[in-house]
Amino acid sequence: MKVLGLSFGKKNANTDILVKEALYGAKEAFPDAEINFINTQRLNIGRCIGCGACSTALEKGKDNNCIIKDDFQMVEEAVREADAIILGAPVYVLQPVGQFKDFVDRFSCRHDVSAINWVLDKRRAGEAPGNADDYPIERLRRRTVSYISVGGASTENWVSMGTATLHLFGFPAMMKVVANYNANSMGTIGNPYLNDEMIGHMHEIGKRTAAAVEMDDKDVEFYGPKGMGTCPVCHQNLLTVNGTTTVECPICGIEGKISIDGDKLNVEFSEAQQARARGTFAGLREHTTEIQGFGAICGPKIMANKELLEKKMERVKKFDEMINA
Ligand SMILES: Cc1cc2nc3c(=O)[nH]c(=O)nc-3n(C[C@H](O)[C@H](O)[C@H](O)COP(=O)(O)O)c2cc1C
Repeated sequence: MKVLGLSFGKKNANTDILVKEALYGAKEAFPDAEINFINTQRLNIGRCIGCGACSTALEKGKDNNCIIKDDFQMVEEAVREADAIILGAPVYVLQPVGQFKDFVDRFSCRHDVSAINWVLDKRRAGEAPGNADDYPIERLRRRTVSYISVGGASTENWVSMGTATLHLFGFPAMMKVVANYNANSMGTIGNPYLNDEMIGHMHEIGKRTAAAVEMDDKDVEFYGPKGMGTCPVCHQNLLTVNGTTTVECPICGIEGKISIDGDKLNVEFSEAQQARARGTFAGLREHTTEIQGFGAICGPKIMANKELLEKKMERVKKFDEMINA
């Protein structure tokens, strides 16, 4: 079994300590496990530029690798090789540090299980060029993941989108989330090694993330030492409200019904909604179906308005000269 620790924090600082302690936990429980640790902070991981080369290549029968060549490929390869992943990132301005999102933007869509299978099915049906068997399908095999968010503030609203945003890494690849941990309060704890309880949770997270590799998803019990959260799927506490009694989990994209009992707020997410959470095949397929339909809707509209759009687009292309005309 291969266990990967990914830290987006400073070298040998809080995130490194916590991720490495989780790896020690995995190694204690599974002495034969092959452990790999990568600190990304000084790596050159450029931004996704939205060129679409990856998806175009896949549709043309080729591989969907990212055409920007930098340190991203090394980290991507390590994730692809791993069976279990412990991912830690510091909170910078309420959310995980930007490098984490840059990595997610380039990694996660390209490992969307539904989107890739959509194209492979078309290849099998002879509706798209290429051979379905050429795609290295082991890339999409099941992996387990746990997330550790690290923040300085004890005030929880200063890490409000920390753990939640980390969940964006693994859902397109349908990784099984074993645990998440909000390691906030670093500004007063001083160093994770001064908090034995926190280090104990890291060992448990490492052990459980590795153990879950050999388990069925249904048998994996989510480990939430700081609470099980409101959403039964991602175990986060974020909700989108729209003025009705229907609310939505912004991570999973599923609807819940709220009810109030005294000063307690209950949110009920039906089994049917849970079954269409963003990180399930059904949830991902809803999105694939939507975006695959864009062309049929937009194509004719754009063609019918070709001349109008060409003229209107001058306002954008010649902005500098037109704004002061
Ligand atoms: C630019 C910047 C913004 C930060 N914003 C927050 C924040 O919004 N909330 C918080 O709790 N901590 C914040 N921190 C503190 C870091 O999360 C904290 O120092 C953490 O331990 C850094 O991780 P590391 O020690 O692994 O490098 C911020 C730090 C920096 C450098």
